[in-house]
Amino acid sequence: MNKLKHLAIIMDGNGRWAQKNSLPRTEGHRKGASVVREIVTHCREIGIEALTLYAFSEENWGRPKDEVSALMELLLEFMTKERITMLENNIHFNPIGTLEKLPDFLKKTLFDLEKETSVNAIMDLNIALSYSGRQDILNAIKKTISQINFDMSFIDEAMFSKNLSTHSCGGDVDLLIRTGGDFRISNFLLWESAYAELFFEKKLWPEFTSDDLDSIIQNFSQRDRRFGLVKNL
Ligand code: IPE
Ligand code: IPE
Ligand code: MG
Repeated sequence: MNKLKHLAIIMDGNGRWAQKNSLPRTEGHRKGASVVREIVTHCREIGIEALTLYAFSEENWGRPKDEVSALMELLLEFMTKERITMLENNIHFNPIGTLEKLPDFLKKTLFDLEKETSVNAIMDLNIALSYSGRQDILNAIKKTISQINFDMSFIDEAMFSKNLSTHSCGGDVDLLIRTGGDFRISNFLLWESAYAELFFEKKLWPEFTSDDLDSIIQNFSQRDRRFGLVKNL
């Protein structure tokens, strides 16, 4: 049985769910936020050590202004409502991405919550905001260069990984799930997913349940993770 330590989810399909139910896209995001709540609680219960959720990509800044604002408001609402749950359940809230770009009204709550929960050690909840996997790798390259004093021989994978935003909060992804029926990574944890097991779920994110997650985890636990090796020799 494979051990699932770091689970990453591309929560896609809010807009299509809204369309299907003749609602504005923002209502899809609202319903999506309630699923986030359910899934975070469930992951905490089943002992996942790190959960990384793709909430807003660098590319998503290009969406209509109203939709972007609604997403930022929802995020604030989520943090406000879930603060106590995170404190009580020993969850470390860790936002990752180009956070400087986020609106000021959000940043304070975001950083305060990160600080307040930073001693919590049972589960890391990484929320990817204004996130781009390529950008994260570029940032890590810049940091690495500043640390090596021009001696390239110091650079190896372990050293480089320490400069990624997921370092100490999950690192390598074991299982990457994308809801919404598309088969792509959309610039999510590019380095960290090098050997992740991938699962593409047809259901749209607002329809996703903890039972769905359990069956995906069951599937994951039975997979033969070979990591390039030959088994049973
Ligand atoms: C995912 O749902 C949420 C974000 C990207 C913020 P979408 O809004 O992308 O939903 P679809 O893909 O249009 O259905
Ligand atoms: C990926 O979904 C980003 C998030 C879930 C936050 P998108 O809907 O933005 O991705 P594409 O456009 O299908 O690649
Ligand atoms: Mg989408």
